[in-house]
Amino acid sequence: MRLFIFRIIILLAIINFISINTYGSPLVKTEKDKVQDTISFVSPFEAANNRCFKCHGQEKYEYTNETLGRQVKDIMCSERILHKNEFYSSNHRSFSCTDCHSEEYAKFPHSGELRMEQKYNCIDCHGGDEKFAKYHFEEIESEYKQSTHFKMEDDGFSCWKCHNPHTYKISVRNANNLKETIAYDNAICLNCHSDYSRFQLLSDKAEINIIKEHDWLPNQASHFANVRCIECHTKINNNIAVSHQIRPKAEAVRLCNECHSKNSILMASLYKFESKEQRRDGFFNGIILNASYVIGANRNEYLNLISLIIFIGVLIVIGVHIAFRIRNKSKTFKEK
Ligand code: HEC
Ligand code: HEC
Ligand code: HEC
Ligand code: HEC
Ligand code: HEC
Ligand code: HEC
Ligand code: HEC
Repeated sequence: MRLFIFRIIILLAIINFISINTYGSPLVKTEKDKVQDTISFVSPFEAANNRCFKCHGQEKYEYTNETLGRQVKDIMCSERILHKNEFYSSNHRSFSCTDCHSEEYAKFPHSGELRMEQKYNCIDCHGGDEKFAKYHFEEIESEYKQSTHFKMEDDGFSCWKCHNPHTYKISVRNANNLKETIAYDNAICLNCHSDYSRFQLLSDKAEINIIKEHDWLPNQASHFANVRCIECHTKINNNIAVSHQIRPKAEAVRLCNECHSKNSILMASLYKFESKEQRRDGFFNGIILNASYVIGANRNEYLNLISLIIFIGVLIVIGVHIAFRIRNKSKTFKEK
């Protein structure tokens, strides 16, 4: 409830981006621009997965209660509902549910022991694999281990908490709409940071009000729609696309000119993937201009030159004016 206003702000941001989208031309175009064809994906495990979706695919499920000897309907709690479309457009869409979960789950009621099931980590599958070398999983892993969240690993924090096993898909790397990516990435953090029920599973800390914590930031809604949480909360690492080292709050970016300047940190984080051809002549950090206008970071060198010329011109005029006045004054002085 306390974060009600925040949700409204996020909603407005989303509406904002949708309305921008309907103007026709997407805000950001990259050379990788191509429509991802996910809906037409047909899983080789469709039938096997439907055994699970039958119950986990919607809000209610049905099963035969052997003791009662009849069909029983019940409600599936929202945390255990998976949406088919999301699953089949995620990175791991080609998987069968039982690649990651025990085949024993095909039986219902599920055996209680399955709760202790060991889950694979990202690194178990991706570590040392040439095919995924460009993602630098090992380096991400070591950054995560220095991250502020890692201390909660024993309480259940893991890569899966940010990368939902059933919906996660790479976004910024293939971004053709940067605002959409920003909303996607921020939703990852807000999943806990605007939902106390998830947050308190991991920490005894009192609820953190994100709006209040950031009330020093002017026009918060606009900032949260144009930069990601990780821009301010991670340490930049040029080896990987997305820095994973979330720093303690005291080390978060607070200075306006970290972004609003020629050396904007955004060039090494959010705008890392923008293609070089998208540069706009004369503008510092012109790439940013495709998505945003960031005061201070987007100065134009021609405009700077023109204003310098005008400035010098004005100085000359003033100088000449003063010179004439001095001459005239001394003239009238002499005449007296
Ligand atoms: C007849 C309905 C039904 C079917 C079919 C079914 N489930 Fe479930 N599943 C449930 C219900 C209800 C729960 C929550 C209660 C529980 O944990 O037993 C659950 C819980 C789970 C959990 C969470 C357990 C935990 O630790 O909290 C997992 C994982 C799971 N199911 C996976 C699967 C997979 C994978 C399949 C397909 C192979 C599957 N289920 C098929 C109804 C079903
Ligand atoms: C890439 C591996 C992977 C695949 C594929 C996968 N899961 Fe999961 N699933 C996990 C992990 C890991 C968790 C525990 C998540 C956590 O700890 O936050 C989980 C948790 C669950 C849960 C418990 C609810 C929750 O979010 O904690 C259910 C139910 C479930 N999976 C069902 C399924 C079904 C049904 C499918 C197939 C459509 C499936 N899973 C496919 C890895 C996978
Ligand atoms: C059980 C093994 C397994 C686990 C666990 C696993 N992955 Fe994957 N992942 C794969 C495989 C195999 C593919 C390739 C799927 C395909 O090509 O259809 C893949 C694909 C991906 C891709 C897309 C790669 C590309 O170039 O298309 C990303 C990104 C990714 N995984 C990230 C993760 C992250 C992050 C985690 C942990 C949160 C994780 N994976 C956990 C096996 C796994
Ligand atoms: C605090 C949240 C968080 C945690 C924990 C986390 N990630 Fe991420 N990760 C993100 C965000 C946000 C992105 C950006 C997603 C995007 O736009 O593609 C990302 C992106 C990635 C990518 C894609 C980067 C690329 O080059 O495109 C990989 C791979 C990845 N994470 C692996 C991991 C692994 C492995 C772990 C655990 C060791 C992990 N992540 C833990 C938040 C997290
Ligand atoms: C699964 C839930 C979850 C997710 C997802 C999550 N966090 Fe957190 N985060 C927490 C919890 C719980 C704490 C409180 C830790 C404690 O007890 O000190 C926390 C603490 C923090 C802190 C304060 C750290 C300090 O030591 O001062 C920052 C900053 C933070 N998170 C940023 C982020 C960012 C940025 C993301 C997204 C990339 C994110 N979090 C995603 C649960 C989460
Ligand atoms: C413009 C930079 C910036 C952005 C963007 C930003 N933060 Fe922060 N954040 C900060 C700073 C600076 C602090 C430290 C505030 C303080 O110490 O009073 C902070 C504090 C926090 C804290 C710690 C609060 C506490 O008391 O423990 C959390 C959690 C947090 N931010 C999460 C987020 C999330 C989630 C997002 C994205 C929706 C986000 N931040 C976006 C700069 C930023
Ligand atoms: C993490 C980077 C970052 C930081 C730190 C940051 N800004 Fe911004 N700011 C942006 C971006 C990106 C925009 C562009 C928004 C847009 O396109 O409308 C912006 C826009 C603005 C705007 C114009 C708002 C509008 O109505 O569109 C003002 C004013 C502003 N910032 C002031 C500040 C001040 C003051 C601070 C320091 C307290 C600050 N910013 C810190 C990234 C940042």
